[in-house]
Amino acid sequence: MTQRKGIILAGGTGSRLFPITGAVSKQLMPIYDKPMIYFPLSVLMLAGIREIAVITTPGDRAQFERLLGDGSQWGLEMTYIGQPSPDGLAQAYLLAEDFLAGAPSVMVLGDNIFFGHGLPELLAAADARTTGGTVFGYRVADPQRYGVVAMDGDGTVTGIVEKPAEPPSNYAVTGLYFLDASASERARTITPSARGELEITSLLQTYLDEGSLSVQQMGRGYAWLDTGTHASLLDAGNFVRTLQSRQGLQAGCPEEIAYEQGWIDSAQLNSLADRYSKTEYGAYLKRLLKEG
Ligand code: DAU
Repeated sequence: MTQRKGIILAGGTGSRLFPITGAVSKQLMPIYDKPMIYFPLSVLMLAGIREIAVITTPGDRAQFERLLGDGSQWGLEMTYIGQPSPDGLAQAYLLAEDFLAGAPSVMVLGDNIFFGHGLPELLAAADARTTGGTVFGYRVADPQRYGVVAMDGDGTVTGIVEKPAEPPSNYAVTGLYFLDASASERARTITPSARGELEITSLLQTYLDEGSLSVQQMGRGYAWLDTGTHASLLDAGNFVRTLQSRQGLQAGCPEEIAYEQGWIDSAQLNSLADRYSKTEYGAYLKRLLKEG
């Protein structure tokens, strides 16, 4: 199989977080000690993905480039693509068509944070399904805010409904989509919804109609954190802070994953650590080197 490529969708106006997103992109907001985009980026890296396109508004692009560069510091190849207006999640597959060049993909929303033991195994299983698609269902208390899974009596998924007033289940579809090489072609066949967006649910429906969409449960042992409101953004930061200070381990640390994956060596990790010498983050990277 052609190597899967990654997409981080990090555009949008951030209007639900105004005024803090008035001048800076939502996906660059801090989650305690790191920019938000480090978390979805880490998920792609844990899935073994090294070629990654970041889709941003044309205006925010330069800041993402300043933060992430060409990716070589982490053994990655980063590409940047502008999305002139937020016309829907499925538009990402049209914008990224040249980048994908016929490869299967994994797209993660730039504001989605995942954490949990066994995540690499869950990602590897999705990666191994070479045809069709895989998405993840996660139980939430407020499904009407998300894409929601509809199931029949024996648990077979029959549909995915975007922000239903009357949710057919409590299972939201997370912002992590493993799709085969046909995604861009399929995105061309869907039409904008009533709110004028190319909906990810419409794209997923084309796979469902063919019986080629696998909906995996992401169980209660995982955290899928919300960053959609001021309060939930702060909660996510506090979650990461609590976890990190209790365990003495970092969540969403691209340097650590790159080192563990063997994409950078200890000399490279050391020079990255030197850059952060004034922070606990830098001390953590030094400790990784010492502990091998
Ligand atoms: O977080 C998971 C949910 O994400 C899914 O359950 C929904 O099915 C999916 O539609 C999406 O819902 P949201 O309400 O979170 O969508 P939103 O429009 O806020 O977009 C999600 C992120 O993607 C957000 O950070 C902005 C970015 N985005 C959005 C659109 C519509 C773009 O970069 N470009 C876009 O065109």
